[in-house]
Amino acid sequence: MRAVDRVISHRLDSSVPLVGQVSHYIIASGGKRLRPSLLLMVCGALGYRGDQRFNLAAVVEFIHTATLLHDDVVDASTLRRGRATANEAFGNPASVLVGDFLYTRAFQMMVDAGEMRIMQILAEATNIIAEGEVQQLINMHDPSLDEAGYLRVIRSKTAKLFEASARLGAVLARSTPAVEDACATYGQALGTAFQVIDDVLDYDGDAAEMGKNLGDDLREGKTTLPLIIAMQRGTPPQRDALRHAIENGAPSPDRLAEIVSIVRATGAMDATREAAAAEAMRAMHAIGMLPSNPYTEGLLQLAAQLLQRRA
Ligand code: IPE
Ligand code: IPE
Ligand code: MG
Ligand code: MG
Repeated sequence: MRAVDRVISHRLDSSVPLVGQVSHYIIASGGKRLRPSLLLMVCGALGYRGDQRFNLAAVVEFIHTATLLHDDVVDASTLRRGRATANEAFGNPASVLVGDFLYTRAFQMMVDAGEMRIMQILAEATNIIAEGEVQQLINMHDPSLDEAGYLRVIRSKTAKLFEASARLGAVLARSTPAVEDACATYGQALGTAFQVIDDVLDYDGDAAEMGKNLGDDLREGKTTLPLIIAMQRGTPPQRDALRHAIENGAPSPDRLAEIVSIVRATGAMDATREAAAAEAMRAMHAIGMLPSNPYTEGLLQLAAQLLQRRA
């Protein structure tokens, strides 16, 4: 990961000062670096030791960071990684444009890998992420969104980059198609579980630990799994309250507290965590065929620990 950080800081260079300011601002504030870790761990599990892994790990982190810069503008979020979002600190135009810089820098870097297959995987992933964010935009304020519709969005906007990161590790290691697909399935299931937990934490987390504000999803009328399950299980008055909150967004603190208590009372918080656990199990099963070594063990632990995450 130190080698990845060196690539990241080297490739952030630009002759335009604002590019460096905004990109360092968001990257230096940390982040869990999960997607590059995933790529490196798959490389480790499959025995690839070449330097290209550091380059591609930086690529997936740049793509992730670009999506965050854009996502915080779209979601009008004000807190990320424990400090003001880039849109809050520098404005929406700078966030959108520096997001574009990071996307396009990532494309320059993936060309360095010199393999059409790698570009194919990343071009497909970035396109699907964008599509997922647009689909989510269309779904805003829609209380009739069901679990399948929700899953389609999160598989695209979040799981796709986890899937690509894991698949790239296998491609670098020149794995068989079966092993490559197993890694991709692992990444997809892991990413899905990760987003489901993120959506629980938006109601049930701690803002200081998360470094993000709670209640952002309901504020903008985003129908996530805790609400979908609560709608299915609630009494008619509870359902009405949820529907009203999704349609109107921007709840008062009291109203948000009421929604959280409905989500809890209907058992939807626990049921959502169970849905994440099922995806984490699917991830672990997918990599049963990988060689047994400390990296594979790490991948298994990652899937298990993600369910307990608080940040
Ligand atoms: C945030 O991702 C966006 C989601 C997919 C929920 P992370 O939680 O991985 O963000 P950082 O990089 O650690 O800040
Ligand atoms: C994740 O969705 C955004 C992307 C993967 C682009 P969220 O909107 O839930 O992520 P946070 O909560 O802002 O990190
Ligand atoms: Mg967001
Ligand atoms: Mg969220």
